[in-house]
Amino acid sequence: MNDLSFAGRRTSTRADRVVTQERHFRAGQAVIGVVGLGYVGLPLTLAAVQAGYRVIGFDVNADRVARLRDGESVLSHVAAGDVAHAVASGAFRPTDDMGELDRPDALIVCVPTPLDGAGQPDLSALRLAAENIARRLRPDQLVSFESTSYPGTMREVVMPLLEAGGLRADRDFFLAYSPEREDPGNRRFPTVSIPKLVAGLDNDARRVALALYGRIVRQTVPVPSIEVAEAAKLTENVFRTVNVALANELKTTFDAMGVDVWEVVRAAGTKPFGYMPFYPGPGVGGHCIPVDPIYLSWRAQSLGVATPLLDTAMAVNASMVRRVRDRLHAALAQRGAEGLFGKRVLVVGIAYKPDIDDVRASPGMRLMTALEDEGAACSYYDPFVPEIPDWHEHSGLAGRRSVAWSTHVLCQFDAAVLATDHGSIRYADLLNAVPLIVDTRNAMGQRGLRGTGVITA
Ligand SMILES: NC(=O)c1ccc[n+]([C@@H]2O[C@H](COP(=O)([O-])OP(=O)(O)OC[C@H]3O[C@@H](n4cnc5c(N)ncnc54)[C@H](O)[C@@H]3O)[C@@H](O)[C@H]2O)c1
Repeated sequence: MNDLSFAGRRTSTRADRVVTQERHFRAGQAVIGVVGLGYVGLPLTLAAVQAGYRVIGFDVNADRVARLRDGESVLSHVAAGDVAHAVASGAFRPTDDMGELDRPDALIVCVPTPLDGAGQPDLSALRLAAENIARRLRPDQLVSFESTSYPGTMREVVMPLLEAGGLRADRDFFLAYSPEREDPGNRRFPTVSIPKLVAGLDNDARRVALALYGRIVRQTVPVPSIEVAEAAKLTENVFRTVNVALANELKTTFDAMGVDVWEVVRAAGTKPFGYMPFYPGPGVGGHCIPVDPIYLSWRAQSLGVATPLLDTAMAVNASMVRRVRDRLHAALAQRGAEGLFGKRVLVVGIAYKPDIDDVRASPGMRLMTALEDEGAACSYYDPFVPEIPDWHEHSGLAGRRSVAWSTHVLCQFDAAVLATDHGSIRYADLLNAVPLIVDTRNAMGQRGLRGTGVITA
């Protein structure tokens, strides 16, 4: 535990120490600790190295740490060369030793905030990270959290854990919150190009955090309070949830009217104000869009506030897998088949979005399970996911391997369902090889690939 007497011994004021820390970060001389080296933490680490900082990367996953130490990338969209270069230069040192958490001048926490088995917010990784930091926390360290959570998490959950070591956030160390807005695999918006919201427990903490991030990203946006920053992050993601649900509902509605929703969105998207295109699909996946609305509605419920719009949006998105399954069922019936039982179905793209390897909460996975529940024999093809990793939501599929992409293999299937439209897939190969293609992403249509066997869902 930390020595409480420290605060009494110091002679410099907090204002002096803020100025010192600001200078230290602005000069790029500081050592940064990134806690959690996943989809958010690893790109951030590389951006911090690029900005001139030395980074100690902390992760509880010893295997991940060992691979990073060997200069391997653990994410398909992060180049191994970049990791290898950062490690070889000595600027990036991955470790699973939490005893070193007192070394960095700033700690940036990017650990997961998923749902637990009961579908409720699971803050266990966040708590563990805060507890580990508290054991080593030293005066004047900046601790900035980036994990997504409901408003109140930092002040009510994290801060008491950090202060349990004896140091106080309003006096001895700096506590900040800067929600991550990473969009993995999006080449248009790499980490450094995304404006960064920065909030602090007090103005001092925010100033120090702005100095830290100001070197890493092109634009920082000061936010008046930690709660506003927490709420802003959730607002961004629930906005997406609701609008994807609307696109999904419009898809069903316009289908019934014989109108192509993809053409509708393209047409509406030409309006330069007041409209923003969102696209239908087999549902939402990943760590954020299916999860974050639950963080918000759970917190709202605990305060006696209902979130009917959000609840409906989540239900609409969740229903899309059933809709795709039913579309496939109906299309097979039209072709004389009695049902899905025994049908060989290829699910194309099981990552939750294009051009990355993330299968968390992926609708493609749920689709495979739904089709197999009806007796279909499912395989999948995904160039980014050679083997399905173990993940509690679809542990029954863990260890399955992607089929090879060849005409010989494709010809063996009765139907294909396009769940995620990775850019590198040669969709034209499907046209002559598979008699029925259910396209949930308009992957065929946008490439001008049409035929009687292609339907949208
Ligand atoms: N993935 C995204 O696109 C994205 C975008 C914006 C925000 N976020 C948010 O950022 C946070 C991190 O998400 P992610 O996708 O990077 O998660 P991730 O699962 O990819 O990575 C998290 C890493 O943290 C490690 N970890 C877990 N508990 C730890 C602990 N107590 N101490 C040290 N390491 C620990 C894990 O081993 C893993 O390597 C979440 O709150 C998420 O909601 C994610």
